[in-house]
Amino acid sequence: MPMTPERWAETGAYAREVFGAEPPHIEANRVAALAAGLPTWAVTGEIGRFLALIAKATKGELALEIGTLGGYSALWLLEGLSDAGRVITIESVDTHADFAEAEFKRHGVAERVDVRRGLGLDVLPEIADDVGPGSVDVVFIDADKESYFEYYEATADLVAPGGFLVVDNIFGTGSSWIDDLSDPGMAAADRMNRRAARDDRFDTAGLFARAGLLVARRR
Ligand SMILES: C[S@@+](CC[C@H](N)C(=O)[O-])C[C@H]1O[C@@H](n2cnc3c(N)ncnc32)[C@H](O)[C@@H]1O
Repeated sequence: MPMTPERWAETGAYAREVFGAEPPHIEANRVAALAAGLPTWAVTGEIGRFLALIAKATKGELALEIGTLGGYSALWLLEGLSDAGRVITIESVDTHADFAEAEFKRHGVAERVDVRRGLGLDVLPEIADDVGPGSVDVVFIDADKESYFEYYEATADLVAPGGFLVVDNIFGTGSSWIDDLSDPGMAAADRMNRRAARDDRFDTAGLFARAGLLVARRR
């Protein structure tokens, strides 16, 4: 069956009807981000729900995200963590970080989210020192694709036994696809995918969820 933009939209609507709409505060975040003119790069509600689901499958204390944007996926991660669970999320663009921080305040979760400003590769070593190996229940990588291999290497050891490392866009983006490795982002995704698939610290699957989702569970 050929997929068209209309069929993707209808499938999204079907998924929301059957599996449940976004919680009201997460919908409000999405609507506010659109109104504020933020880029429309947030995960879909279905992937958000999946992030919450896997966070629920862990002890739910700590998630680490690279790529905050307006806070949409971080709010979904919080849904799945325990009541005291926290998210550390990294963002390099101040307007995105400002928006997300205001949203976390507006939705009463500011104490549970630590927005770290800066480039992921600059900020990660400090975070790794703070939290220590084996301490993160869910790592979610969703920022510049060119750094994917380095993000994987920098975060894999932080994942707790039984925790998950999830990466969005492992097969493509709106402008590039994994069949063209001359694209530096896709070349980095390919390198990371092959590394993750052979990494004996994890059981791993590459889900063909639109742009592709890596899901790796720490052994
Ligand atoms: C795809 S969006 C994140 C979407 C978000 N995870 C969600 O689903 O709601 C990617 C974000 O990563 C940020 N970003 C890009 N390069 C970065 C880097 N080197 N370090 C940190 N953040 C970066 C962008 O500014 C953007 O806000």
